[in-house]
Amino acid sequence: MAFGRFLLPLWPLDPVATYLNHGTVGVVPIRVAEAQQVLRARIERHPSKFMLRDLWTFTGSADGPTQMRRAAAEVAAFVGARGDDLVFVDNTSTGVNAVLRSTPLACGDELVVTDHIYGGLLTAVNYTARTTGATVRVVEMPYPAFDPALAVERIAAAVTPRTKLVIADHIAAESAIVFPIADMVRACKAKGATVLVDGAHVPGALSLDVSAIGADYYVANLHKWAMAPRSSAFMVVAPAHQSLLHPPVISWGLDQGFTQEFDWVGTRDPSPWLCAPDGIRFLQDLGYNALRKYNHDLAWHAAQYLTGEWGTELQIDESAVGCMVSVMTPESIGTTKADAVRLRDRLLFEHNIEVQVHARAGRVWVRISAQAYNDRADIERLAKAVR
Ligand SMILES: Cc1ncc(COP(=O)(O)O)c(C=O)c1O
Repeated sequence: MAFGRFLLPLWPLDPVATYLNHGTVGVVPIRVAEAQQVLRARIERHPSKFMLRDLWTFTGSADGPTQMRRAAAEVAAFVGARGDDLVFVDNTSTGVNAVLRSTPLACGDELVVTDHIYGGLLTAVNYTARTTGATVRVVEMPYPAFDPALAVERIAAAVTPRTKLVIADHIAAESAIVFPIADMVRACKAKGATVLVDGAHVPGALSLDVSAIGADYYVANLHKWAMAPRSSAFMVVAPAHQSLLHPPVISWGLDQGFTQEFDWVGTRDPSPWLCAPDGIRFLQDLGYNALRKYNHDLAWHAAQYLTGEWGTELQIDESAVGCMVSVMTPESIGTTKADAVRLRDRLLFEHNIEVQVHARAGRVWVRISAQAYNDRADIERLAKAVR
C-alpha cells in the first residue's frame, strides 16, 4: 500500500497521537515548511528589494510577473482558473468577507445561505445583514438523509428577485457533504442570482475545475488539503465582478486593478502564498490521483465500519463523500453541543485521538478526515475509544 501510517514522518505530527483532523487544521509537510524557511531567509537578505520590487510593485513590474503573480498562475493552473482571475487572501473567511463588504445591500435585500454554512461565515453574513438591513434566508438541506437533487431544488427555490448573493458550500464543514455544486450554481444563476462558492475543503481533496463550476466567486483554502503553510487561501472572481470587489483592508492597490489591489494590502509575510506551489508539488510527488482515491476510500470505509460498530445509521451515498465523513455516534454519547465538546476532549485527553466532533439533528457526530498518514487502524482506535 502506498499510503498509511508509515508516511507520518513526512509531517511533523506527534507519532503517538492519532490525527484525524486534517480538515479542521491542516498539517504542513516538513518538506514544505523547509521550503518556506528557505524563502524567508532569502527575503531577509534583501527585505526591501523583495517586498517592494520582487513581490509587488506599485506600477506593475517591468521585469515580467511579480512573485505574487507567478504563484497565482501556478495555483490557478492547479484549480482550473485563469491566473489573472485569482488573488490570494489570508483565509476563506477573509475572501468571503471581501465579497460581503463589496456587495451593495439595502433594507429588504436578501442573502441566501444553507443550514450547512460554516459557523464563522454565518456570523459574517448575519453581521452584514445587521449593518445593512438585508435579510438572511437559511435554506434547509436534505440531511442526514442526503438527496443531491433535492439540495439543488431547494437552494434554487430560495432565490427571489431580492436575492443579492447566494453562498453555497462545495464541501460542508460539519456534515462534510460534497454538494452537487455545479448544478446548484447553474440552478441559482438561471434565476439571476450571484453565487459565491465556499470551497474551503476542496483544493487537494477533490479534483477541482473552478471554471467548470461557473460561480461568480470561488473562495478556498490552500492551508487545509493542499498542504500550503498557514495561512494561505485564494479567490477566483469572474471578470464582471473584479472592478467592484475590494479586500476588507484598503491599501495602495486601490484603483490599480483587481490583482494589484489584492496583492498588496499592507506589509505581510507573503511566504504562505509563495510556497503554495510547494504544497501542490508535494501532492503531485505523493501521487495526487492515488492520494485522493486513498483518502476517499478510507473515509468511505470509516463511514461503513463506524456505523456498524456503533449501531447507527448511514444515510448518505458514496458520491457525497470526499476525504472526510461525518458519522453519527450512539445515543448514549449524548445529543447536545456540550456532549460533543465532552466527547472531543475525552478522545484527545484520554485516548490521544484528535477528531472533529459536533452536535446536529439531535445527535453527536464525529467527522473523520482521512489523510495519507492515516489508515484503518486509526479508525479502529476511534471506534473502540467511542465505544
Ligand atoms: C466550509 C468552511 N468554510 C470556511 C472555513 C473557514 O476557513 P478559515 O478559518 O481558513 O477562514 C472553514 C474552516 O474550517 C470551513 O470548514
